[in-house]
Amino acid sequence: MRTPRRAALGLGASLGDPAAALALAARALDALPGTRVIATSRVYWSPPAGGVARRPFLNAVVVVETSLSPRELVRAGREIESRAGRRASRRWADRVLDVDLLLVEGIASRDPEAQLPHPRLGDRPFALVPLVEAWPSAAHPVTGKHYAARLAARVALPAIGTLPRPTGGIGPRRAGESAMKFFLDTANLDEIREAASWGIIDGVTTNPSLIAREGRDFVDTIYQICTIIDGPVSAETVAVDAPKMIEEGRLLARVHRNVVVKVPLTIEGIKCCKALSSEGIRVNVTLCFQPMQALIAAKAGATYISPFLGRLDDVSEDGMDLIQKIVQIYANYPELKTQVLSASIRHPLHMVQAAMAGSDVATAPFKVYKSLYSHPLTDKGNAAFLKDWETVPDRDIVGQVNRWLSSRG
Ligand code: E4P
Repeated sequence: MRTPRRAALGLGASLGDPAAALALAARALDALPGTRVIATSRVYWSPPAGGVARRPFLNAVVVVETSLSPRELVRAGREIESRAGRRASRRWADRVLDVDLLLVEGIASRDPEAQLPHPRLGDRPFALVPLVEAWPSAAHPVTGKHYAARLAARVALPAIGTLPRPTGGIGPRRAGESAMKFFLDTANLDEIREAASWGIIDGVTTNPSLIAREGRDFVDTIYQICTIIDGPVSAETVAVDAPKMIEEGRLLARVHRNVVVKVPLTIEGIKCCKALSSEGIRVNVTLCFQPMQALIAAKAGATYISPFLGRLDDVSEDGMDLIQKIVQIYANYPELKTQVLSASIRHPLHMVQAAMAGSDVATAPFKVYKSLYSHPLTDKGNAAFLKDWETVPDRDIVGQVNRWLSSRG
């Protein structure tokens, strides 16, 4: 078994659904034997190059830790390309998917099948920019020069999104192992009961304002929520100094095993997070509005970081950009296990944005979840199906199937 090494693969696509092709490639790389994705760049848009391609390309870089040899990686890349539907094409031509081995830590090779580093890496901004983003310390294996230095001239490429974190195989960090979880952002027990019956709610978040709105006893409300939803339930401390906050947190954690202690992102809150996390109590650090706050919370052992999308959008800042940055920063440091919990979600588009950015969890009010289910064309289509069904002679499916089953003995 070879010692695992870090390797970077460049992805590019211009035909079909390029974003989907890039996501597929990242997942396929993650599923290779002895390989796991440890970081991904954002997805970049670049104009057609080389005078042959007609469409803009989407590009990204995936960094893996792998025990495969360079040749095995190149072959796996070709296999992924052909699975995506790629056929042989001219150099620079539009294509469904390109998977290029760019760099393997410590390996320089003239093997014609797997030249390393990729011979044109230094001249291609669409590979260099995402490479340096996903692997900031990437260096030439012989000269030791950092590729970041080649970008000193600041090549500007527009980033248009992120690669969804691979979910198959071993993800880049443990926190991303399941699809985005749905938390309900409310302290209203009727809403929680109804939403629980939908079967898709994974947890609940509350805050002092939501508790105050219900006019009920705080601790009993938290306990009742925990009995309705068997998942993480955030209960927020209100003390302003760490010792008192720690005391509140320890007690809240005793109310029910589902309780996650929520603390604000202040110096005192982070002290409390560190203390409670080291005692094994799960902490949700809330009121996060900039990426470094998220890194601080993660270093203090937070189980969740709650960046507030809606409140940033309210003041003309880009909430989605904050989520993307946090997801990227956490993916750069797989040892951080903190989950990104997108909060302050106001409408379905925020949910879409949170999922596209690879958020681990999104918490939203009851009415947002209800609107996630509905689309006028779903209602119209369903009404038409039911109307047409009225014309079918025997409309009793249960009776028909039972009769059919018994006729077969
Ligand atoms: C959840 O944890 C937050 O407290 C909540 O999402 C804040 O939402 P708001 O900005 O709509 O009040």
